[in-house]
Amino acid sequence: MILTLESTCDETAAAVVTDDLQVLGSVVASQDDLHRRFSGVVPEIAARAHLERIVPVIDEALRKAHVKLEDIDAIAVANTPGLAGSLLVGLVAAKALCLATGKPLVAVNHLHAHIYACRMAAGKNVFPCVGLIVSGGHTSLYHCASATDFHYLGGTIDDAAGEAFDKVASMLGLAYPGGPAISQAAEQGNSRAFQFPRALGGESGGLNFSFSGVKTAVRYAICGPQQANFTAVHLTPQQIADLAASFQEAVVDSLIAKTRLALEQTMDNTLCVGGGVAANRRLRQRLAELAEAMKIELHIAPPDMCTDNAVMGAIAFERLLAGRVECLDLEAVPGLVRQ
Ligand code: KG4
Ligand code: ZN
Repeated sequence: MILTLESTCDETAAAVVTDDLQVLGSVVASQDDLHRRFSGVVPEIAARAHLERIVPVIDEALRKAHVKLEDIDAIAVANTPGLAGSLLVGLVAAKALCLATGKPLVAVNHLHAHIYACRMAAGKNVFPCVGLIVSGGHTSLYHCASATDFHYLGGTIDDAAGEAFDKVASMLGLAYPGGPAISQAAEQGNSRAFQFPRALGGESGGLNFSFSGVKTAVRYAICGPQQANFTAVHLTPQQIADLAASFQEAVVDSLIAKTRLALEQTMDNTLCVGGGVAANRRLRQRLAELAEAMKIELHIAPPDMCTDNAVMGAIAFERLLAGRVECLDLEAVPGLVRQ
C-alpha cells in the first residue's frame, strides 16, 4: 500500500492505493475559490493554501482508506514539474512522514502520472504508447516505452492548452476555471464563425505546439488590436458562443494534428491522453475519430482523473518495482525535465 501526495499546482491531494491499483481512499482539496478573482493560479496563494491543507488532506485520505500510517509501505510524492512553492509543501510533508516512519520515499513525475491515470482506468497494460498531456501548465507529447521509460517528443513553446482556455475565458468574461466554461459556451456556438490560427501547422513545427497566437487572435476578434480599455461587455451571448467554439476548434485541431504526427512517427498503436483539458468533450470526440481513422487503441483518463489528483501517483509502484527509491535530499524540480 502506498500513500501518494500531490501538490504541484493548486490541488492539495492525497490517496492510498494498493499494488493491484485499488484506490482505498482519495481526497482532493481544490483551491479554485481562492484563485477565481485573479482568473488564474497565484503561486504564493497556492503554496500557502497547500501548507494549511496538506496535513488534514493526508489524515482524511488515511481515514477514508481505514488504514493507519504504520500500514503504509511507501510514501510517494510528485516532485516535478509544477510551481516551486507548491511542490515544496508536498515534498517536505512526504519527507517528514518518511523520516518519522522509516518508510521509503518514491518520486513521481506529475506528467507521467497523468498518463498513468489511463493505465489505472484501463485496468490493463497500455504501454508502449504515445502519451498526450494537456493541462493548465503543460501540453506535451511523449513516447512511453513503459511506465518508467518516457521519451519527450515535443510540447508547447509558449502557453499550455489549458492556460489558453483559462485566459480566453477570462477575456470573454466567462467563469474560472475557463476550460469547462469555454466548453459549455461552445456547445451553442459555430466553430466556423471565426478563423483562428493553427500555429506550427503541418510538419513545420515538428511535434511542438504554440497557443499564444490563437489567444491574441481571440483578443483582436473581441476588440481590435487596441491595448487599452479591453472589454467584452459589448458581445452578445451568441458572439461569445461563436468565439468560444471557434477558439476551442483551433486548439483541438492543433492537438489532433500533432498527436497524429507523433503516432505516425513512433508507429505506436496505442494513445493515452490525460490532464485537465482531456476532460474537454470536443477533444474527446475528435480523439475518438482519430483513433478510429488510424485504427489505434485509445485511452483517455476518465474526467475525474483528468484534473489533478493523487490517485494517478500510483505510478510510484512501477518505480518501486524497478528499485527506484529516493534519498531524503530529493529536490523539487519546477521546470519540465524533458524525459
Ligand atoms: O491537469 P490540471 O488539473 O492541472 C494542471 O496540472 O495544470 O488541468 C487544469 C486545466 C485548466 O486550465 C482547466 O481550464 C482545464 O484543465 N480544463 C479544461 C476542461 N476542464 C478542465 N479545458 C477544456 N475543457 C474542459 N472541459
Ligand atoms: Zn496536472
